[in-house]
Amino acid sequence: MPLSIPPPQTNEGTPLGSMENGQLFRLPLKYFGFHFAFYGVTGTGKTRAAMNLAIKADNEGLNLRIIDIEGEWKNIIPQLKKDTIYYDINKNLKVNPFDLQDPGLTKLLLRETIFKGIELEYRDLSPQMNFMLDKCVLISKSIPKLIENVISHKPETEFPLRNLDLTRTALLTRLNPYKDNPVLRSIFYVSKSSIDMSSIKDKNLIIDLHGLDMKVAYKRELRLIYNTLAITYLREALKTEEVNSVKNLFIADEAQLLVPRILQKAVATDTWATTDFATRLRKRGESLAIISQSPANIEDDIRKNSQNLFVFRLLDPGDIKAVAGMFGYVHVEEINHLSSMLTGMEERCAMAKTPSALYPFIIRTLDVELPKLSEEDLAAYLPESEETKEEAISEDEQELLQNIRENPFLNNTERALSLGWHRTRYSATRKLLRRKDLVEEISFKTKLKGAPSRFLKLKEKKEYGRGQFIHAFWVDKIFIYLKEEGYNPLQEYKANDKIVDVAYTKDGKTIFVEVEYKSDWKSNILRASKICDKLVSVFIREKDIIDAVNFVKQENLSNVTVTDAYYAYKVIP
Ligand SMILES: Nc1ncnc2c1ncn2[C@@H]1O[C@H](COP(=O)(O)OP(=O)(O)O)[C@@H](O)[C@H]1O
Ligand SMILES: [Mg+2]
Repeated sequence: MPLSIPPPQTNEGTPLGSMENGQLFRLPLKYFGFHFAFYGVTGTGKTRAAMNLAIKADNEGLNLRIIDIEGEWKNIIPQLKKDTIYYDINKNLKVNPFDLQDPGLTKLLLRETIFKGIELEYRDLSPQMNFMLDKCVLISKSIPKLIENVISHKPETEFPLRNLDLTRTALLTRLNPYKDNPVLRSIFYVSKSSIDMSSIKDKNLIIDLHGLDMKVAYKRELRLIYNTLAITYLREALKTEEVNSVKNLFIADEAQLLVPRILQKAVATDTWATTDFATRLRKRGESLAIISQSPANIEDDIRKNSQNLFVFRLLDPGDIKAVAGMFGYVHVEEINHLSSMLTGMEERCAMAKTPSALYPFIIRTLDVELPKLSEEDLAAYLPESEETKEEAISEDEQELLQNIRENPFLNNTERALSLGWHRTRYSATRKLLRRKDLVEEISFKTKLKGAPSRFLKLKEKKEYGRGQFIHAFWVDKIFIYLKEEGYNPLQEYKANDKIVDVAYTKDGKTIFVEVEYKSDWKSNILRASKICDKLVSVFIREKDIIDAVNFVKQENLSNVTVTDAYYAYKVIP
């Protein structure tokens, strides 16, 4: 189909982009039921294009259901009219794949995610593993129960089971992280999912999985959550009565995470098998918007039935072939033409096709500005996100807290070492404590060269000695150094009406060390230098040092040495 055909004339509907002739492309609501797809390589503007769609859909009265991997979607909340319920994987999201109430489906999901590839790993055990998994899934209602059953369930069989222990162990290698890893545990080691589908009726729902996505190792778990939630929602939607207008817009960003192939099985039951579920959703007022970098990896049924199509730049031949079919291109020349168009597509431009227009056309997406929300802004929009119950503190968390109390000034690397923990265990525990608001993280430079170090500070502890953490850190370092050098230093030493950070004697002389950080250093220097033989003023902020050197010269204070923290050891003792 030639693209020289003029773009469609659209006088009413939701504006979704501008066309080559400068006019807006508008799509009337009645076409929303034909679903949406936004394809294109990363960074081409798919998410923003879908956000424009979402904001306008909300403003026209639709409810949004959004699964977000990148953590971007919460930022549209201020632009939404309806109330929004926000679930954050680091806070209030709990997922129980057994809540699908369909053991066959749950097993399918678990196999496509938790147990994916395990059959290759344990080839010899494979038949028995399957058997065991089947039995255990059937009698379990949650992940904790499943783990329990895999450990101890004795299935009745007419034939003897060999290698049963090996089979259990193999399955547990994949399951144990859901019990032992604090991050996964807080999400999955539960008896009930936290999302109540009945509570979202006339509200928007945003599920933010970004907190887990940041940990690359968790791709499998991410797929499990993503699928459990998407399937739960879609199945619920299919149970509702037929209606004449669109009610909800379900947005799946990074939709390639929807495990291909199984979605059809997941939502199709025997009675419905003849009609594709995309059509059934449309009849129930559900509109889907699929956003993906990889159309080739999207379930056939969804791909074929997402008829409001926006294709941004694509590079992979497999993906281009997949969309060629949707545009109705079959001849080699047509496909080559499409390929050269798509590979050269500018950012924020897409080839569009919709049942509302006869031919494909090019659009440029509309501006969507996203002021970033702070945690506080979010809290204001989202009272629900505060609902999270106080969770118990795990042993690891207690151990880490204790460790911080005993050694407040270790950086994260040193602390993990001192605990004898692997990095992942340390950082997972640290995350949990931060989430519970028991610790905060501070980062500053402790060496002249290299990246800043990171420290955990107890939230309960406001003051460290006479000042801030960073001040205390350096005082502690200098104090320990002097001790190791064989001096007998004193901390917070009282001299007349002044308290000095560190004091020690060398060759019968009294030496004071004062660490200056955001302090009234001029008066400190004047007062301290009068009551000791020598004063070392240690500055943490580079910009103060020159001022201090000049000040000392000006005041003619011959017993004062000014240094920065990194060089302090050259002048002490
Ligand atoms: N419609 C738009 N309005 C404003 N900025 C945009 C728009 N589309 C893209 N951008 C800019 O390009 C970046 C990538 O767009 P995004 O929609 O996140 O791409 P994708 O989802 O395809 O990876 C955005 O972070 C933004 O800076
Ligand atoms: Mg995106």
